[in-house]
Amino acid sequence: MSKAPIHLLRSQGKRISCPPIIRDQEWELVDMNKKNPFILRVWGVNKSPLNSFVGLFVALFVILVVSLVTTTSSNSSSSNTNNNTEESTWHVEESSCDYFVGKWVYDNNNNSTYPLYEERGCKFMSDQLACEKFGRRDLRFQQWRWQPHGCDIPRFNATKLLEKLRGKRLAFVGDSLNRNQWVSMVCLIDTSTPQSLKTMESNGSLMSFKIMDYNASIDFYWSPLLVESNSDDPVHHRVPDRTVRAQSIQKHARHWTDADVLVFNSYLWWQRPKMKVLWGSFDDDDGIYKEIESLRGYEMALKTWSDWLEFHIDRSRTRLFFMSMSPTHFWGDEWGMDSDQNCYNETEPIFEQGYRGRGSDSNMMNVVEKMIEGLKERGVRVQVMNITQLSEYRKDGHPSIFRKQWEPLTEEQIKNPSSYADCIHWCLPGVPDVWNELLYAYISS
Ligand SMILES: *[C@@H]1O[C@H](CO)[C@@H](O)[C@H](O)[C@H]1NC(C)=O
Ligand SMILES: *[C@@H]1O[C@H](CO)[C@@H](O)[C@H](O)[C@H]1NC(C)=O
Ligand SMILES: *[C@@H]1O[C@H](CO)[C@@H](O)[C@H](O)[C@H]1NC(C)=O
Ligand SMILES: *[C@@H]1O[C@H](CO)[C@@H](O)[C@H](O)[C@H]1NC(C)=O
Ligand SMILES: *[C@@H]1O[C@H](CO)[C@@H](O)[C@H](O)[C@H]1NC(C)=O
Ligand SMILES: *[C@@H]1O[C@H](CO)[C@@H](O)[C@H](O)[C@H]1NC(C)=O
Ligand SMILES: *[C@@H]1O[C@H](CO)[C@@H](O)[C@H](O)[C@H]1NC(C)=O
Ligand SMILES: *[C@@H]1O[C@H](CO)[C@@H](O)[C@H](O)[C@H]1NC(C)=O
Repeated sequence: MSKAPIHLLRSQGKRISCPPIIRDQEWELVDMNKKNPFILRVWGVNKSPLNSFVGLFVALFVILVVSLVTTTSSNSSSSNTNNNTEESTWHVEESSCDYFVGKWVYDNNNNSTYPLYEERGCKFMSDQLACEKFGRRDLRFQQWRWQPHGCDIPRFNATKLLEKLRGKRLAFVGDSLNRNQWVSMVCLIDTSTPQSLKTMESNGSLMSFKIMDYNASIDFYWSPLLVESNSDDPVHHRVPDRTVRAQSIQKHARHWTDADVLVFNSYLWWQRPKMKVLWGSFDDDDGIYKEIESLRGYEMALKTWSDWLEFHIDRSRTRLFFMSMSPTHFWGDEWGMDSDQNCYNETEPIFEQGYRGRGSDSNMMNVVEKMIEGLKERGVRVQVMNITQLSEYRKDGHPSIFRKQWEPLTEEQIKNPSSYADCIHWCLPGVPDVWNELLYAYISS
């Protein structure tokens, strides 16, 4: 375990108050109780220290050998020969169509391709996201297709993607929403390659999904604030007093700098008015702490991140993506319900064009856009995956109460299910599959 002095929140049910637009880290959910509608309930860490993924792996580093491949499998023999140098560079083509502007179309004709996989068909599904397993009965949410106004999204083809990723490493770096997307990608590939040998390895903050036939690796690296912070422990990260070392990223970056495709995100953990910044090390007693506005801290962190990319990324090799903010659905009054309603019991998307919830912080998105613009001037291209708007429409896509509950529910909660609904993450199969289809469109073009 990490040596950093991580101060675990031990007291069960302790509450931290936060202003309305703040929603927090992965299992912290807004308590919609009438008296204190905007108080975060912090789930104790001492009782169930394993999250869904770590829970999958009994020991710190266990290899799951999932299915043995027979060498007669159809595509393993054919494509091992073409490893010329052209294969290892990316063809970067500018798409003329804006994939991110469009509408959701319900797709249930007889030839429907949605959902792209079955929940129970994915061996690496997470209990945090397996809504059907945990009792969700309306599965219409799985059958919406994203239709850009000006073009079609290319059909996801796992074989084609793996051919692009042969001998390569694709890494998702960020928080639990990026992990949500990573699980989606793992499932998209796992369910389309039943014959292949695949392994899942977990080592600290790094989860690594390997497809042996292709010597390809699809990883997730936990660093919710991108830079170093006291929330870096992949399991014990619910700390009351959030602190970042806004100028230090190397501890994390050394684990992903060599990847061929990098997909970053980081928003949710910054959504509080202020946080502490540390100059110095977590291990020293003489570090300097200063409380600053989170937005300012975010700017500092992304500056550190962009400087790292400028000086350490191999520009001819690595493709860079940044996911825009994933919206939440905590306030029903935004779509015409009562203000004490949230995503709980929602079964249809929002159809109002351009709908925007007030939780999506445009100041933060401006910071991202500015940093990425600055990187472009310095010759480093980062593609923004602008999934905020398309996901805004999907109030029906969250796990709500249909996911593993890490703590037993109280009677009060059971009476009022929306009080413990998860309106942050996304059920799988579901919305993040579309994010990955878009990512695929860029990678495979
Ligand atoms: C392909 O790569 C392998 C090792 O990565 C190498 O041994 C082999 O010679 C290469 N084949 C060609 C045709 O370049
Ligand atoms: C779909 O298929 C079923 C039988 O498999 C058929 O009865 C039905 O008419 C088809 N519907 C459409 C819209 O093609
Ligand atoms: C379904 O697929 C068949 C052939 O695969 C095609 O002829 C037909 O037009 C498709 N129907 C729809 C509604 O897409
Ligand atoms: C997927 O891609 C592979 C390799 O490019 C191709 O052989 C296969 O036909 C594609 N599958 C579909 C359904 O398009
Ligand atoms: C497998 O991929 C890794 C990069 O992910 C590369 O370093 C290694 O050389 C590859 N091995 C083979 C046998 O191609
Ligand atoms: C786990 O990661 C550490 C460094 O982060 C590395 O030293 C160690 O070799 C890794 N363990 C395995 C089994 O790969
Ligand atoms: C859920 O929504 C349905 C209509 O969509 C409604 O009839 C039902 O009362 C709602 N249930 C709760 C608990 O709000
Ligand atoms: C993302 O999309 C929104 C609206 O859909 C737009 O306002 C914003 O400028 C876009 N951002 C980027 C970086 O393209």
